[in-house]
Amino acid sequence: MKASIIDGKAVSQLVRDRVAQQVASFVAGGGHVPTLATVLVGSDPASEIYVANKHKACEAAGMRSVHHGLAADTNQAELVDIVRSFGSDESIDGILVQLPLPDHLDADEVVDSIDPAKDVDGLTPQNVGLLAAGRPGLVPCTPSGVIELLDHQGVDLNGAEAVIVGRSNLVGRPLFSLLLGRNATVTVAHSRTSDLASVCRRADVLVAAVGVAELIRADFVKPGATVIDVGMNRTDDGLRGDVAFDEVAEVAAAITPVPGGVGPMTIAMLLENTLHSARESAA
Ligand code: GUN
Repeated sequence: MKASIIDGKAVSQLVRDRVAQQVASFVAGGGHVPTLATVLVGSDPASEIYVANKHKACEAAGMRSVHHGLAADTNQAELVDIVRSFGSDESIDGILVQLPLPDHLDADEVVDSIDPAKDVDGLTPQNVGLLAAGRPGLVPCTPSGVIELLDHQGVDLNGAEAVIVGRSNLVGRPLFSLLLGRNATVTVAHSRTSDLASVCRRADVLVAAVGVAELIRADFVKPGATVIDVGMNRTDDGLRGDVAFDEVAEVAAAITPVPGGVGPMTIAMLLENTLHSARESAA
């Protein structure tokens, strides 16, 4: 294997330690304990694990967290009421509604009911607009974790060709704005892109966030590129990323593993966003 492995667990721990120190000094200076509220509808086992990990991470960083678990058949009005009540509760700094929601619920309306100042997922129209305009706001956690990994790896984004595969609201679209803000030349490819392999081969930085196991093969990758794999696909052979790791690692200069790459970064950036919201509300 030629590529260096980008260790997301280690980088995430650095961020978590940094946030813990900042929380301690915020509280020591008279600030309140930053508090995250999570909402989970239904009992999807993977979502339950993600939410539990978020609470553990809050505790380890000296933050508080509260959780509202709702039955799978919860109706729209009930859910919106709970999200709004967190918005008007002064003891709450961050609100996270775990996605995806069951099909009978309108996720857009739920997201729109999150107070933008507490929108630690960066999904409300207010924060999406600020990010698209290159203005300060709350930024979605997974894409900001990708930037943190690239910075930690010392990747020069200025003038780099970046290709993102995937155009989701949680990853592809916000990552486009973040990379553009760092002066990369950014292409967003997706499931309808023709000749995906040749588009990907332009990339100095290739980010796969499309949700198709091992779609990105060695011949999609420019020798020496940095490859970031956001994919988490459960297959019969176990958890797989969007990148065929073994063969791409022979071509790339650096690559994130799955698991242990981007995944751990999401929680670290969530803590950072929650602290940011707490500071803003205290200002
Ligand atoms: N489901 C998978 N990733 C995420 C995330 O970053 N935020 C929320 N709210 N739900 C998710």
